[in-house]
Amino acid sequence: MKILAVTDIQKLIQILSLENFFKRAVAALEEDFGRWHEFILSPRHGTYYPDGVIELMPCADQQHYAFKYVNGYPGNPLKGKLNVVAIGVLSDAESGYPVMISEMTFLTAFRTAAAGVLAAKYLARADSKSLAIIGTGAQAEFQVLAFSGFFQLEEVRFFDIDPQAMVKFSQNMIGQKFSLIPCNSIVEAVRDADIIITATAAKKRQSLFEADDIASGTYIYAMGGDSPGKTELSAEFLKRTKLVVEYKPQTLVEGEVQQCGADLIYAELWELVCKNKPGRQDDQEITLFDSVGFALEDYSILRVVYELAKEYQLGTEADLIPELNDPKNLFSILGP
Ligand SMILES: NC(=O)c1ccc[n+]([C@@H]2O[C@H](COP(=O)([O-])OP(=O)(O)OC[C@H]3O[C@@H](n4cnc5c(N)ncnc54)[C@H](O)[C@@H]3O)[C@@H](O)[C@H]2O)c1
Repeated sequence: MKILAVTDIQKLIQILSLENFFKRAVAALEEDFGRWHEFILSPRHGTYYPDGVIELMPCADQQHYAFKYVNGYPGNPLKGKLNVVAIGVLSDAESGYPVMISEMTFLTAFRTAAAGVLAAKYLARADSKSLAIIGTGAQAEFQVLAFSGFFQLEEVRFFDIDPQAMVKFSQNMIGQKFSLIPCNSIVEAVRDADIIITATAAKKRQSLFEADDIASGTYIYAMGGDSPGKTELSAEFLKRTKLVVEYKPQTLVEGEVQQCGADLIYAELWELVCKNKPGRQDDQEITLFDSVGFALEDYSILRVVYELAKEYQLGTEADLIPELNDPKNLFSILGP
């Protein structure tokens, strides 16, 4: 069985380039959301602690079974730890044998950014040139670079309540083809943006901006609110948007729509990908992808990375599963 470590993901990005890896990730997501009915889907299982949540996220089809273990602890960075860390398992559905265990802290950042881009393909204006990001923590650079690979971004405006996070972000973004504009407030950042990403972490109800603070025709990727009691936008704001989610049974508990219910939901993302419903219909609509992170996205990135790891001979083989001449003689491993 293959073990894929952080260093293997680093090597993979060096081989492919970040831009090409994002292209592969978005294409895989589109392919898999496009065959939605082939999957066995369920909401994730969350275990809630006072400081955060630990979640198990399974998703399967006839080829593979995949699951991710992931946490969300907004207070962790103050203690020198990541807010979100994850590992994932991919199995062969024919035998039930696990074929890969992978780091998924990076893969979560990649797939979350790729999911926002996939939704943007249907919900953002194709001529979007300016992007605003609120919250410049661990996910921020992945988000911005994924979007800049698909849109001709001319400027990226950004704001975080933590000035150090803003400095870190601008240092990591040096040399990109867009101009970087640090802002003094959320409203200053979002005012004229074509695309807005909300990537904040706070275990409470936030209302980062209202409809009057933004331009018409904006696409918003709300990815930070992803747990009961942890939201980024007001119920009033949601009513002004064309609102798309990943999977209603999960999003109604964890997403922005936990504040108001199913009536506000226009579509699940797969319905746009499968052309069952149109995405953006004019240049004035405010469109919103209320993302909480869905197991199908983890399935997609795991199967892509597994294919790539085999192609480029990445990862380490580990004997986590016994190999026996006689599968009934498990005891033989312990000697005569
Ligand atoms: N939808 C998904 O699939 C998905 C995937 C990964 C992470 N997330 C969520 O995205 C969020 C960001 O994750 P991260 O790993 O970057 O977290 P992080 O803790 O590294 O960064 C979050 C940043 O938000 C800032 N922030 C908090 N409140 C703010 C406010 N009101 N205005 C401006 N900035 C504010 C913090 O200062 C911090 O820098 C988390 O809530 C996480 O749970 C969602």
